[in-house]
Amino acid sequence: MAPSPDLMLSIEDIKIAGSKKLPLMAREFYNSGSTTQVTVTENSTAYNKYRIRPRVLVDVSNLDLTLTLFDQTLSFPLGLSPTGIQAMAHPDGELATSRACARRNIPMAVSSFCTYPIEDITHASKTINPIPHAMQLYTLRDRDLQKQIIQRAESAGCKAIFLTADSPVLGVRYNEQRNDFRTPAGLSWPMMGVTSEAIQSQTHDAGFVATNSDAHSWAREIPWLRSVTRMQIWIKGVLTAEDVLLAREYGCEGVIVSNHGGRQLDGVVPTIDALPECVKAAGGKLRVHIDGGIRTGADMFKALALGAECCWIGRPTLWGLAYDGEQGVTRVLDILYDEFKRCMQLTGCRTLADISPAALAIIRTDGPVARL
Ligand SMILES: Cc1cc2nc3c(=O)[nH]c(=O)nc-3n(C[C@H](O)[C@H](O)[C@H](O)COP(=O)(O)O)c2cc1C
Repeated sequence: MAPSPDLMLSIEDIKIAGSKKLPLMAREFYNSGSTTQVTVTENSTAYNKYRIRPRVLVDVSNLDLTLTLFDQTLSFPLGLSPTGIQAMAHPDGELATSRACARRNIPMAVSSFCTYPIEDITHASKTINPIPHAMQLYTLRDRDLQKQIIQRAESAGCKAIFLTADSPVLGVRYNEQRNDFRTPAGLSWPMMGVTSEAIQSQTHDAGFVATNSDAHSWAREIPWLRSVTRMQIWIKGVLTAEDVLLAREYGCEGVIVSNHGGRQLDGVVPTIDALPECVKAAGGKLRVHIDGGIRTGADMFKALALGAECCWIGRPTLWGLAYDGEQGVTRVLDILYDEFKRCMQLTGCRTLADISPAALAIIRTDGPVARL
């Protein structure tokens, strides 16, 4: 039996409870990053060098946490990043995640390596609350298959494509090699058109190489995407001002500052440290969101103070699913909502627009805490 939700007070609690329920192969696949795990760790610890500068005696009895995205008003600035193979964490997989997002009115991005068809995933939320979904895409060797995924996503009601740009090849993941990671028998990737038997027959890395194109480029992908869909085009996996400028030039609607949760190149910049230059380069011309290592409402607050419009989380969804399916994911969302709301109240911020760099200080190695 799952521990009482009353005792699940933090994302760390859910990580521990959820991880305990997973077999080693799944747990390490979900929780690890690439090679030495520096980036997976630093994505979270990098938040600690910021301290919050709260304002006091502000009337915070009436807060507005809402965000308008994809023409919908959402509860608070959080979304669920695309993470593959969710049915390995809980049999209901992406359906449970979609329902939890619907109950808490936040957006969901769906991995191309989802274990349910996109039609079923968007349908799962519709009867509760039609939240926006985004379809995550890799650049595939098979353009017809890529087009098929896009068309199915659009017909299923998705609002955006999240083109994952940081993965011409997979990062070096020791856990996958040591555990000979394979998606468990019985699970398939319906959007990729891959059966359970076919998945079983090769390693995760070999399967990725076989389907994914490393010959991608801005000029090859973005105009083609525009020609086949009316959905918004976002670039996921951007870490530099240079690439934000290219996303602007190519007319993308948004970028997600992301390093794939430390699963691609180890030793890249933690996302919270990449954020300021990306926000500056965006110049208000396209939306800038962030994921990677966000585990508390205070982390969300810091990311917004540094200019992100919205935060996204990856692994906490998987831990919530493993802990208790839809209820587990809902619990993750409730924890972050409550922590973020209280952080706003305790800093004297009544709206998201009140959260600015003035709310942060940075710990410097050469002296006292400094204002930004
Ligand atoms: C198990 C797992 C699977 C993932 N699968 C995908 C994927 O299919 N496509 C993608 O763009 N990102 C994928 N990601 C990366 C997430 O979208 C996200 O960028 C990352 O998890 C955010 O960091 P966090 O887990 O520290 O919150 C995956 C991450 C994990 C942990």
